This record gives sequence, structure tokens and C-alpha cells, in this order.
Amino acid sequence: MRRPASLTLRLSLLFGVAAAVVFSVFGWFIEDSIKRHFAAEDVSELEVVAQAVEKALFADLSRGDLASLERRFDDILVGHHGASLHITDPSGRTIYTSPGPDLSELALMSARNADDGLARSWSDGRHTFRVLTRHLRDNRPSTGRAYTIAVAVPIDYHLRFLDGFRYTLWLMIASGMAITSLMGWVAVRQGHAPLHNIIAQIRRISANELNTRLSPDTVPRELTDLAVSFNEMLGRMEEAFLRLSNFSADIAHELRTPVTSLMTQTQVALSQTRSLDEYREILYSNIEEYERMAQMIGDMLFLAQADHGLCKPNNAEVDLAGEVRTLFDYYEAWAEERGVILTLEGDAKASGDRLMLRRALNNLLANAIRHTPAGGTVWVRLDQVKNGEIYIEMKNPGSDIAPQHFQKLFDRFYRVDPSRQESGAGLGLAIVKSIIDTHGGKIEVTSRGGFTRFRITLPNPPGSAS
Ligand SMILES: Nc1ncnc2c1ncn2[C@@H]1O[C@H](COP(=O)(O)OP(=O)(O)O)[C@@H](O)[C@H]1O
Ligand SMILES: [Mg+2]
Repeated sequence: MRRPASLTLRLSLLFGVAAAVVFSVFGWFIEDSIKRHFAAEDVSELEVVAQAVEKALFADLSRGDLASLERRFDDILVGHHGASLHITDPSGRTIYTSPGPDLSELALMSARNADDGLARSWSDGRHTFRVLTRHLRDNRPSTGRAYTIAVAVPIDYHLRFLDGFRYTLWLMIASGMAITSLMGWVAVRQGHAPLHNIIAQIRRISANELNTRLSPDTVPRELTDLAVSFNEMLGRMEEAFLRLSNFSADIAHELRTPVTSLMTQTQVALSQTRSLDEYREILYSNIEEYERMAQMIGDMLFLAQADHGLCKPNNAEVDLAGEVRTLFDYYEAWAEERGVILTLEGDAKASGDRLMLRRALNNLLANAIRHTPAGGTVWVRLDQVKNGEIYIEMKNPGSDIAPQHFQKLFDRFYRVDPSRQESGAGLGLAIVKSIIDTHGGKIEVTSRGGFTRFRITLPNPPGSAS
């Protein structure tokens, strides 16, 4: 992906473009109103001439004195600087034309098209004029046809003024753009100062200082979310970091006990010659330790793989009731020895990895049996609700787990009472949680009134009723 342009550059250019747009719009309005003003001025001057001509034309025509008429027209033009006049009679014959531009063509065209009272701009090749053409009708009924007059005033001066104005406008737009861009650049640089501040703060944080936090109150409001999210990320990292360092310590600690005991036992056994039976007994007792260690190493391996996303559940239909019954058979002897009754209620078919789900159920059941006092009952209840969600509930009597443990119960190596002889390494529930997580489900624990209850929710298996 292409790297986006720098914020400063982008904002500066944006300011520049905005300034150009604003100047252009204002400039256009001003130019337009000047143009209109000039046009109105020209037209009113042309009107004055046209009206004077009309009055003179009909007054003197009736007297039939053409020579005095021409003088009258000359007089009318004197008061209007640069104005020209051309008059044709109804038959198209020119009866008067003033020195200056040749308006005969225009007058002819206007007579032909019968356009009356039109003011337009026109150029004779050297100068530009505004021209008004008009048809004047004699009131006498016998001659109902019209005289055509064309009056023109030069507008070169106005056009030059507008050209100058446009030039100035362009200069203003260009320099306005440059100045606002520059000011924008300075403002943005200045505005970014808190960002550089935060960057400096972040830069100072190293792996040993994960407990450092940015203070969201000291950054501008727009950056508060960034600071808060960053703090949250630091929190998670700190937690993970801590868990990782504790994990190594826990592993070392957990392995030291069995290894020391094996070592001592072996040393004691070797300290004198023993009978074959004695050796055999020692080896048997060692096997128990090896098994515990192998179990723990297997569990840790599983968790490590789950951490790296390597435990991909193999999706198949799993008959949960069948799995629970198999586990009941497996634990039957142990439960009987402890005087614990195992019961199963309900039925459900999950979609997931059979071995993984069995492992999770096994860990929960082993815990439940271990914590149930003699004479107690372990209930397993399976339920599949309408939308296909599956609930697995495992309930056993026994002393309550205090609520402050709930949060950590599923952590690795966490045990409520580490001194309890028979408990494992504290990896069982961590494995259960990781399996349920990979299946997209969740697990909750409650413990009150002498009953501990683990409740798993598995999502709707694909293809089931929804
Ligand atoms: N059914 C239960 N009843 C009471 N306490 C339980 C139950 N299941 C688990 N616990 C508590 O949770 C802790 C963690 O369980 P787990 O992860 O399986 O570790 P472990 O069984 O190796 O001790 C146990 O040490 C125990 O204190
Ligand atoms: Mg356990």
C-alpha cells in the first residue's frame, strides 16, 4: 500500500485550495457586479441619445427640413463623448450617419430581424462598442413603417478596467493561496507539538517499564482516545509479560519438586544393596512421579500450542452424552472408592474436536470428583436450546470457592489451595478454557451455598437448527 502523504502537507494544501476557492467566488461576484454596473451605465446613456433622436426626428420630419435635422443630430451627439449614430428611413435608405464606426450593417440587420431596443456589445475590429438599435414609428397612419436608429458608445475603457481587475484578482488568488498554505503549514506544525510529546513519552517506555502510563488529561482532547487505547495496550502487554515470566518460574518450581524427590529416592536406593523386590517397588513409585511429570509436560505443550493457534479443532459432530458416559465408566472405580455418585441429564450434539472436548470434560469431571465430599453427587447436565446453542453444566457439592479466586481460576498453575496434596499442577482449568475458546464458546464458574458449578456455552454448530 502506498504511504499516505504527510498530514502537514495535506492540511497546508487544503488550506491553500480553500483560500483559492473563497477568493475566486468573491472575485467572480465582484466582477459580475462591476460588469452589470457598466452595462447599466452604458444603456442609460444610449437611451438618452435614442430618446433625443426620436423627439428630433418626428418633430423635424413633419417640417421636412433635412438639413436642420442633421444639425440637430450633430448637436445631440456633442454631449455624449464618442457616441455614434446611424439612421435609416423605412425604405432602408440612410438618412444620417455620424463620423466614427460604420453602423449601417447593424441597422440593416436590426431592421430585418425586427429586434427592437436591444443593447449588445459589438466590435468594428479596432474598438468595442455597446450598441442600441431601435425602430421608431411615425404616428401618421399613411406611413406605418419604421425608421431604424443605431446608437453606439465605445466601451474599451470599461473592458480595460475589467482586464486589470481580473489580473489583480489572479494575483490575489495566487498569493492568497501561497500565504494561507504557509500559515497552515506553520499552524499544523505547531498543532502537532502534543503529538511529538506523546511520541517522546512512548519512546521512553521499555520492556522493564511496562507499568508506565501516558496521562490522558495532559494531551489535547483529540488525542485522549489514543492515549487511553495505548494505556490499555500497555496494560495487556504488562499482564502478558508478567504471566510469561511467572510461567517460566512456575514451570521451574513445578518440575523441581518431582525431580528432587526422584533424585533423593534414587540416592537412598543406591546407598546400600537392596533386594529385587525393593528395587521393583522403588521403580514403581518412580513411575508415578514420571507419569505426573509427563502429564504436566503434555499439558504445558498443549497450552503452548494453543497459544500459538496450532490447536485447530477438527470439526465433527460430537455426541456429548456419549463422551460423558465414557468418562463416567473411566472414573467409576475412583468415584466408588470416594463414595461419589455420578449422574448425567440431558443430551446434546456439539460440533467440534472430539478429543479436545473430551479432554475438557475430563478435566472438569476429575476436579468435580476430587472436590466432592463422600456421599455427594456430581451432576452433569447437557442442554441444547432452540437456537442451537449448547450448555454443559457440571455441578458438585463441596466447600465454596471464594469469589476473589474466580478471575484467576483459569490461569495456568493457579490453585485455590496449593497445599492440597492431591491437586494437580493447576493446568486443568487453563486447558479447559483454552479448548472452549478455540471452539468459540465461553466458560463461567459460580460457587455458593456449598455447590460449585461450571457452565460452558458452545455456539450454534453450523448446519443445526437456528
Ligand atoms: N469442582 C471444583 N470444586 C471446587 N474447587 C475446584 C473445582 N474445580 C477446580 N477447583 C479449584 O480450582 C483450582 C484449579 O483447578 P485446575 O486448574 O484443574 O488445577 P488442579 O486440579 O491441578 O488443582 C483447583 O486447585 C481447585 O482449587
Ligand atoms: Mg484439575
